[in-house]
Amino acid sequence: MKTIDLRSDTVTKPTDEMIEAIVRAHKEDRFGDDVIGEDTVVHELQDKAAKILGKEAALLVTSGTQGNVVSLLAQAKPGEEVVVEERSHSYIHEAGAMASLGGLYPKPVKGDRGYITPETLKSAISIDNPHYAKTTMVIQENTHNASGGAIIGPEQFDALADVAHENGLAVHCDGARLFNAAVALDIPAKRLVERSDSVMVCLSKGLSAPVGSIVAGTEDFIYKAHRARKRLGGGMRQAGLIAAPGIVALESMVERLREDHENTQLLYSQLSRIPDLIVEEPETNILFIRLDNLKINSMELETELKKRNILVYGDPHFGTRTRLVVHRMVSKEDILHFANEMEDILGG
Ligand SMILES: Cc1ncc(COP(=O)(O)O)c(C=O)c1O
Repeated sequence: MKTIDLRSDTVTKPTDEMIEAIVRAHKEDRFGDDVIGEDTVVHELQDKAAKILGKEAALLVTSGTQGNVVSLLAQAKPGEEVVVEERSHSYIHEAGAMASLGGLYPKPVKGDRGYITPETLKSAISIDNPHYAKTTMVIQENTHNASGGAIIGPEQFDALADVAHENGLAVHCDGARLFNAAVALDIPAKRLVERSDSVMVCLSKGLSAPVGSIVAGTEDFIYKAHRARKRLGGGMRQAGLIAAPGIVALESMVERLREDHENTQLLYSQLSRIPDLIVEEPETNILFIRLDNLKINSMELETELKKRNILVYGDPHFGTRTRLVVHRMVSKEDILHFANEMEDILGG
């Protein structure tokens, strides 16, 4: 019996085309030692990613977390302050990396569906006074995971970046799911990060590559990011093995994200039929349900679903909310089956 895995889009496995791309690159003898810059597949991926993101240069990193940390280390110094949204990945889910590895002081603020408004940013920037840490960066996540894959539109991002730049701050976009936002808005991904100084995108979430993320920005930023990656042990040797599927991810998998968004809407309409279950309206491929009015909590729901070969995360950080993530390995039939099981468990 098939296991339906709604825990994350990170569980997607590589496609046949990705494996074929690895074999082709091997046959063409394109792998080399990327620490000394000799893997031509890595160069191809980085050039392609820079172009897609509208930036001068790009760098392959091992993960989204490493990409966010590298971007911080390249642009902020120990003792400086970074404005973060209070439920963002960089603040909550990166094991305190910005503080422990960068000596950076996170200043959490409340977002509007994850968006740090220009007014919020303005009031978060510390005044220039020896008593305060100097505020030098802001991170905006897009889409915003904990807000149900909420999209930060280009005008919103521009307005935030304008305030940041007027105050001498660098702007980093945690775009782990930037392509979901771009596809949902029908605009090129680069438009969403036109005014960001750095951006990180993941190849290994909805795009289904097995490993890897990209950071992009100016040549100068990438020069510094390269050193930061080295410091974090992220220099990789024949990294073309990772880059080859990454190229397929960028070329063939972005438009496919539309299917995930359609399936998430199907999930929304199916679950909305269940009495007393609160279903938050999704914008992309992430949907949160809330069990506040039901007798079951999210950990119990996780256990109950597991007995039926359905996997969800009852992350205690999300409280009574349970996150469901739709991706390439979840079909329409899986969603209908899942909704029926939910009805059965919750007594719909
Ligand atoms: C918004 C966001 N940023 C960053 C990351 C980190 O990516 P990784 O798991 O590759 O370190 C994630 C992972 O789920 C994420 O959801």
